[in-house]
Amino acid sequence: MCGIFAYTGKKGKDAGGVLLDGLLSLEYRGYDSAGIYTPESGSVRTPGAVAELRKKIPKGFKGKSGIAHLRWATHGEPTEKNAHPHSDCEGEVWVVHNGIIENFKELKEKLIKKGHTFTSDSDTEVLAHLVEEHLKKEKSFEKAALAALNEVNGTYGIALQYKKEPDRIIAARMGSPIVLGLGDGEHFIASDPSPILPHTKKVVFLEDGEVAVISPDGHRIFKLDSTKVKRDATNIDWSAEATQKGGHEHFMLKEIMEGPEVIENTLRGRLIIEKGLAKLGGLESVAKQLEKIERVIVVACGTAYYAGLVGEYMLEEYAGIPVEVELGSEFRYRKSVINEKTVVLGISQSGETADTLEALREGKRRGALTLGIVNTVGSTIARETDAGVYNHAGPEISVASTKAFLSQLTALALFTMFFGRQRGMSEATGREIAKALKELPEKLQQILDTKESIQKLAKKYSKARDFLYIGRKYNYPIAYEGAIKLKEISYVHAEGCGAGEMKHGPIAMIDENFPTMAIAPKDSMYEKMVSNIHEIKARKGPVIAIATKGDKEIAKLADDVLYVPETLEMLSPILNVVPLQLFAYYFAKEKGLNVDRPRNLAKSVTVE
Ligand code: F6R
Repeated sequence: MCGIFAYTGKKGKDAGGVLLDGLLSLEYRGYDSAGIYTPESGSVRTPGAVAELRKKIPKGFKGKSGIAHLRWATHGEPTEKNAHPHSDCEGEVWVVHNGIIENFKELKEKLIKKGHTFTSDSDTEVLAHLVEEHLKKEKSFEKAALAALNEVNGTYGIALQYKKEPDRIIAARMGSPIVLGLGDGEHFIASDPSPILPHTKKVVFLEDGEVAVISPDGHRIFKLDSTKVKRDATNIDWSAEATQKGGHEHFMLKEIMEGPEVIENTLRGRLIIEKGLAKLGGLESVAKQLEKIERVIVVACGTAYYAGLVGEYMLEEYAGIPVEVELGSEFRYRKSVINEKTVVLGISQSGETADTLEALREGKRRGALTLGIVNTVGSTIARETDAGVYNHAGPEISVASTKAFLSQLTALALFTMFFGRQRGMSEATGREIAKALKELPEKLQQILDTKESIQKLAKKYSKARDFLYIGRKYNYPIAYEGAIKLKEISYVHAEGCGAGEMKHGPIAMIDENFPTMAIAPKDSMYEKMVSNIHEIKARKGPVIAIATKGDKEIAKLADDVLYVPETLEMLSPILNVVPLQLFAYYFAKEKGLNVDRPRNLAKSVTVE
């Protein structure tokens, strides 16, 4: 959702080229228009893709510095005039912005009265005019920018540039992420590290209420009240190659295929198998407090929410701790009973999802200990939670979350061992889970090796307009996850359902044109799932079963079967979801759709 990239350097590089390449690596965030500005050549903006922008850029477009943006429309349609960068009346102050300026209407009216002329419907433009207004008194760009930022309410990640001081770019953050890249003789500003990584691995994350100034030779950070901030740089070890497709046609397939490695990375150094223990360094600082915890509330959105639902089953069964899972967007409107013995656990790939972040902040305000399972190092959720665990899944570029989901489930299994062993889980049980976790990458590889047959199946069902996904217990959330994956990238109706709920409504939809994905591994729910499959077959509904390798019975009942190796029941979602991810991928690909960037969706949802 909206992406910012800014560059200033003295290495003789063409800033335009650097910025356009940077925008390409931000494309995964989802956007509907793009734009670029350099003080030497001015601005070019366009609705549509970065490729369109590139075409529009005239020969001879040059610059040693500049700002660029991908916009996802909030105020005003995705048109050229509303695309960023926006400028003041004189075309001297330029701004790119992620977020929403809540008091833009009042500010705009005030500025119009003072003679400013606006050319867009965007809330962002007000910022450029506000800086222009302050420049009349302040003379210094930095001071004028600071004065303007102190007048706006709302959320922002911003990069500002002034034509008369082309080397310097000002960044600011309030609720929308900003990271600085520190190169040698060149500096960067971006909304996430991906466009910076090809140039430097040394980054500094801004906190809310902070402003930074970059020039080719350095950077400074200060607060909105001008007090200086000293912050060490972080080294990000994601290679630039890791953000590329690695030979696959789409990022989504690449990311699904990375599953075994991702699970290994999430587990690395965190299991003491012989003692049946999970060693989670990120929880050490609060380990004593966790012993006294009486309740866990998981807050998350979308796919991360479904991971939380699986975690609920794991933690309740193995750690004996009451768990509730709440949508981030609902949590703070509830009056849930929270005290210092409550953990609010946020799960988020991006670490920037506004609803999850606000739910965590609400939990903290009400006295809970906040924890995170987060993939993006240095993200807001990672920084604001009291403690937590990184997924170590690497960058996830495709909008549909796949490998991050596997790592979230793996991390939840580790949490379960950690909480469980604090609460009387036996060493033998701990050992059993640890061993089963260790075996997962190899088992997952076996599923990935069958991807051609899943592709054939997706082709066979590619004309279907509706799907039902059913599962029970640990695999009930996987039914929802399978359905969201299919609908978000193929725009086909898919409905998740606890198999026991089918008879309370959804079964009415079943007929010969309405296939069902039935997640029916040989576990404690097997017999009940078989009954549900019978019910569907009795109504002529086609059934694709996700079943345990060697289960010949189910093949007699279902129309098609995708086999998955056996594992512990609590870990089975980690395997069962993968054929569903691959099915969704091949189904959307068969339809010729833009798998990695589905319409209307953004990778990182930083607005509520
Ligand atoms: C679905 C998907 C979304 C995200 C949700 C939360 O494939 O990607 O449902 O899971 O927007 O995002 P994070 O995990 O970044 O908080």
